[in-house]
Amino acid sequence: MAKELRVGMIGYGFMGRAHSNAYKRLNDFFPVQHRPVLKAVCARNETKARAFAKVWGYERVETDWKKLVAADDIDLIDIGSPNNTHAEIAIAAARRGKMVVCEKPLAMDVAEAEKMVKAVEKAGVPNMVWFNYRRVPAIALAKQIVDEGRIGRAFHYRATYLQDWTIAEDVPQGGAALWRLDADVAGSGVTGDLLAHSIDTAMWLNGAITRVTAATRTFVKQRLHQETGKVQPVNIDDACMFLAEFDNGSIGTFESTRYARGRKNFNTFELNGADGSVYFDLEEPEYLQFFEYKQKQSGKKTESHLTGWRKIHTTNSEHPYMKHYWVPGTCIGYEHTFLNALADFVMGLESGKPTQPDFRNALQTQRVCDAVLKSAKTGKWEKTGVKL
Ligand SMILES: NC(=O)c1ccc[n+]([C@@H]2O[C@H](COP(=O)([O-])OP(=O)(O)OC[C@H]3O[C@@H](n4cnc5c(N)ncnc54)[C@H](O)[C@@H]3O)[C@@H](O)[C@H]2O)c1
Repeated sequence: MAKELRVGMIGYGFMGRAHSNAYKRLNDFFPVQHRPVLKAVCARNETKARAFAKVWGYERVETDWKKLVAADDIDLIDIGSPNNTHAEIAIAAARRGKMVVCEKPLAMDVAEAEKMVKAVEKAGVPNMVWFNYRRVPAIALAKQIVDEGRIGRAFHYRATYLQDWTIAEDVPQGGAALWRLDADVAGSGVTGDLLAHSIDTAMWLNGAITRVTAATRTFVKQRLHQETGKVQPVNIDDACMFLAEFDNGSIGTFESTRYARGRKNFNTFELNGADGSVYFDLEEPEYLQFFEYKQKQSGKKTESHLTGWRKIHTTNSEHPYMKHYWVPGTCIGYEHTFLNALADFVMGLESGKPTQPDFRNALQTQRVCDAVLKSAKTGKWEKTGVKL
C-alpha cells in the first residue's frame, strides 16, 4: 500500500530543481512504499515560485517558510535555500514534528549545527543532509572496496575541488545565485561550499580527520554587492588548502578554489594504501580507478608486466545503485545522485535503519570546516573534535 510523503520544498534554485526531480522519479526506479507528493514550494518571490510550481507540479506556493513548516499537510521539509537559512528552518521544522532533509553545508558553523542536531534528535524526526556525491555509484564502489579491506593500511588521501567562475573582478556578490560570495549568507567560501563535499567523502571512506592546518586566500578583496548597490569587502575564502591527519594514521591534502582557470566542477580524490589505491574524477563520473597490489595470484607469483590500474566502468547491475537503472554499459547522470540519496532516505524510513549522513554525521564535517577556517587564521594545527 503506497504511503504519501508530502513534501514542502524551500527554494526553487539549483537544488530546488535537483531535489524536485528526485521526488518525481523515485517510484519509477525504486520499489519503495512511500509516494512523494509535491505539496508546496516556498520562496520569497511569489511570481517565480508560481512559475516553478507549474513546471515541476507543486500543488501550491508559500512565500513564508514559517507557514510551510506549520502546515498540517506537510510531512517533510526540504531545505534547498542558502546556508544562513538552514538552522532556523530546520529547528522550526523539527519542533513541528516534520522530517527534515537539508542541503550542505549543514550550517554556518558548528554552534548552529549542534543546535540543529539537538532539535532533530529531541523531536525524534528522520533527517538527512544531501551530501549527494556519496551516491555516485563509483564513489559508493570505492567505499565498498575500502570496507572489503582491499586498500589495506591507509597512507595518503588527496582531494581537489576546483572551479573558475569568480575570477573576473566584476562578478558581483550577494543576492540571487551570487549569495555564495557573501560571507553573511554563505558562512564561508570554498571551505563550506566545496570542501564540505570533499571532507564528507574523505571521512566516509577513510575515517575521522583529527587535526588540520590550513591556508586560505581572498584574491578579489572587494566586489559590488547586488542588494546594497555598494562596493563591499569580500569576506569569504576564494581558495583554501589544508593538510589533514586521520585517526587511522594516514595523512591528507585538500585543495579548493574558484580561481582554477578552465576547471568547472573538478572534484577528485585518491586514497593510497599498502594493498591498493582508488582514484575518482567527477569529470568521468561513471569510472572508478582501482589499483590492487598482489604478490601472488592463485598461488603463483603475480605477472608484474600485467599489473596496472583498472578503470572500472561502474554500470553493471552488481555496482551500487545500478540495478535500478539501465543495462550494463549505459550510464546515469548527476541528477541520479539526488535520486539515489532520496531512495536511501526513504528505504531508511521503511527499514527503520536511518540513512547516513544524518545531521549528527554532517556536524562532524562542519567541525572540520570550522577547524580549517580557524587554522587559516591562527596559522597553527587545530584539532577538529570529530566524533564518528
Ligand atoms: N549537494 C550539492 O551538490 C549542492 C549543489 C549546489 C548547492 N547546494 C546547497 O544548496 C543550497 C541552495 O543552493 P542553490 O545552488 O540551490 O542556490 P540558488 O541560489 O540556486 O537557490 C536558492 C533558493 O533559495 C531561495 N531562498 C533564499 N532565501 C530564502 C528564504 N529566506 N526563504 C525561502 N526561500 C529562500 C531562493 O529564492 C532560491 O530559490 C545551499 O545550501 C548550497 O550550499 C548543494
